[in-house]
Amino acid sequence: MQQMQGCHAEPDDVIGRENHDIAGTYLWNVAMPDLVLKLIDPRRDDAWRDPLRQHLLRLDRASLRQRFMTPSDATTVDAYLAEIQPEMILFLEDAGRVVACAEVHPVPGASHHEVAVSVEPRYQSRGLGKRLVHAAAAECQRRGLTELHVYCDHENTRMQKIARSFKSRSRPIANWAMAAFSVKLGGNAGAHPA
Ligand SMILES: CC(C)(COP(=O)(O)OP(=O)(O)OC[C@H]1O[C@@H](n2cnc3c(N)ncnc32)[C@H](O)[C@@H]1OP(=O)(O)O)[C@@H](O)C(=O)NCCC(=O)NCCS
Repeated sequence: MQQMQGCHAEPDDVIGRENHDIAGTYLWNVAMPDLVLKLIDPRRDDAWRDPLRQHLLRLDRASLRQRFMTPSDATTVDAYLAEIQPEMILFLEDAGRVVACAEVHPVPGASHHEVAVSVEPRYQSRGLGKRLVHAAAAECQRRGLTELHVYCDHENTRMQKIARSFKSRSRPIANWAMAAFSVKLGGNAGAHPA
């Protein structure tokens, strides 16, 4: 597990450095200096399921529904956690408690990965979800992954804005009951979000 204090580094001096100090890059202008970003490699570190479970259960009903794109509860969360094998997890912690999370999942038989993000209600609309997704994309790019997909409900304006914030590298790929976007990684995909 890698741990970084937020809000103290300039944007461009960290991506690609050996300590992967992505927090310094992506949280540098969020006025919450005590937040800590942790990069979890689930293949090496198995202590992520319980903090992720507790975090997901702290989402309010509307956020939990948006996260899973269907009405959800503790049973949904437990079934989900029993199944997933993420490629990577980014935990954003406040005083040691996970308050936001980006999960990157492999897609069986496909070359792309999927990213899912959740921010607890008290921390929403402060720029954290966007920065978490950009941090996850930057780390994916560093690992040589080439494409991320984002899925959300049509009414999920914030998530769609996040997907579109990758600008030319983001394109809608489907318009089913949910909105779907593909984000191509490469070039300056890790650039600081506007
Ligand atoms: C969707 C979610 C991840 C967004 O994270 P967030 O930290 O709340 O959002 P941000 O503050 O990063 O804002 C993202 C964008 O939405 C905009 N935004 C923020 N609050 C908004 C609001 N109330 N209405 C409309 N737009 C809003 C921001 O300005 C930003 O857009 P911009 O870059 O064009 O300015 C978060 O709200 C969440 O966890 N929701 C529940 C779970 C979920 O929906 N997950 C996504 C599916 S996996």
